[in-house]
Amino acid sequence: MNFETMMNLFSRRGILFPSSEIYDNHPSGFWDYGPYGAAIKRKLTELWRSDVVKRTGMLEIDGSICMDADVFRASGHLESFADPLVECVKCGSIFRADKLIEEVSKEKAPEGMAPEKFDSLISKYGVKCQSCKSPLGKTRKFNMMFRVSVGASKPQDAYLRPETCQSIFADFPRLMKVMKKSLPVGIAQVGKSFRNEISPRNAVIRAREFTQAEAEIFFDPGKPGVEKFKDMENYRLNLKSAKDRADYAPVTAKEAVNKKMMSEFAAYYLSVMQQFLVKCGLPAEKIRNRQLDGEERAFYAKESWDTEVKTSLGWVEIVANNNRTDYDMSAHGKISGKDVSVVSAETNEKFVPHIWEISMGMDRLFYCVMESSYKKEGERAYLSLPSYIAPYHVAVFPLVNKDGLPGKGAEVAAVLSSAGFDTDSETKDSIGKRYARADEIGIPFCITVDNETMSDNAVTIRHRDTKNQERVKINELACKLRELMD
Ligand code: ATP
Ligand code: GLY
Repeated sequence: MNFETMMNLFSRRGILFPSSEIYDNHPSGFWDYGPYGAAIKRKLTELWRSDVVKRTGMLEIDGSICMDADVFRASGHLESFADPLVECVKCGSIFRADKLIEEVSKEKAPEGMAPEKFDSLISKYGVKCQSCKSPLGKTRKFNMMFRVSVGASKPQDAYLRPETCQSIFADFPRLMKVMKKSLPVGIAQVGKSFRNEISPRNAVIRAREFTQAEAEIFFDPGKPGVEKFKDMENYRLNLKSAKDRADYAPVTAKEAVNKKMMSEFAAYYLSVMQQFLVKCGLPAEKIRNRQLDGEERAFYAKESWDTEVKTSLGWVEIVANNNRTDYDMSAHGKISGKDVSVVSAETNEKFVPHIWEISMGMDRLFYCVMESSYKKEGERAYLSLPSYIAPYHVAVFPLVNKDGLPGKGAEVAAVLSSAGFDTDSETKDSIGKRYARADEIGIPFCITVDNETMSDNAVTIRHRDTKNQERVKINELACKLRELMD
């Protein structure tokens, strides 16, 4: 299985496909999810909501995508949210210098380096245009923000947010006032972010519009402990060090803190996230938390870990975990002129909160979950998605399209829907083809209504992963399915 296999499946079943695709010159980097893809992505989001946001007692907001230019002046995006760009002197093809150098040389080229450093690596490794093999021009920085003009008479510059967290920062003073919380407090948000990526590629892995699920935990730097740490202290984390680039044997969260490998914040929230990713269906051995060293970390970040997943494309970063210090709140306080500080309950002194950030890309998570659940057995392909992630829990199929079976099938489907199961039903094509289609989109159980059903009021449950079949009375079906899903 490889990336092309997945894209082929996505396209064939309308799971994920290019936006505006009926127009030949549609811009790249924008993607639409069809019904199955949208359902799976929604279920991953719901799982994040229950297992990260609610579990750790965070608040959740829903902020605007389009924000004041001053927000991004404060955040530093207007000045420095730029990727290194190189252009072919002959054919004009454009590349992201850091990614291109890494691909050709296998040497890390941190994106924050000065343009001249990229130029010297390009000349050191003889990196050429990937399209026509001609030389490349000088590296320059390209700002990835999408600017929009707001209003009719005196249009004002605003920007589409390149990360969802900026509205969390800007809303923090009001939320502290109205929500009556004391620190530490986590505020989460899931929504769209926009980046004018130089070379969008690998579908939703590097897109220009994508969904982030972010959580910002505001804390007092004088009290960097996590109250609920005990809940997670024995959870085993998969870690990779920055310095020696070695894999560590999995260590518990407690050991990681005791050995000074990371802060208690990092150990707790990396554990929460790793556990969540495993529940999404990703095998633990395909997940690692990679420490970023000084060169790779954002300049304001004190501690950073990238949570990565192994795919056919290599290790893909899906979550960025950062101690952002007081950088954001101090900057917003300065530019807005508003008081963004909080008062310490112990000392009664004002301070600007520090922030631990968990920034997850939902589309990258979607791709990784789909790829890792893809199984091929001879001609048969299926997605071994957990039932709570599958687009439907169950599909009801009348064996044939006659003898009253479609009506009986509709009855069974209605019973299951009202019992809370996401239920699909189909009557077209042979039962074999319908099973194959259900397998391919990961529906865990198919219910077949046959001629005997009309007399014995029983149906057959077919299990996706094993293809085993069992006969169950219709009045026991909901209970049985619930049991199987549990
Ligand atoms: P990369 O190095 O791959 O460009 P990044 O370090 O710029 O990623 P962050 O800015 O830390 O990514 O963004 C946080 C998360 O948002 C990432 O871990 C990823 O899951 C998601 N993300 C960022 N950029 C994109 C994109 N262009 N398309 C899809 N998801 C993205
Ligand atoms: N909020 C972190 C990021 O998107 O980079």
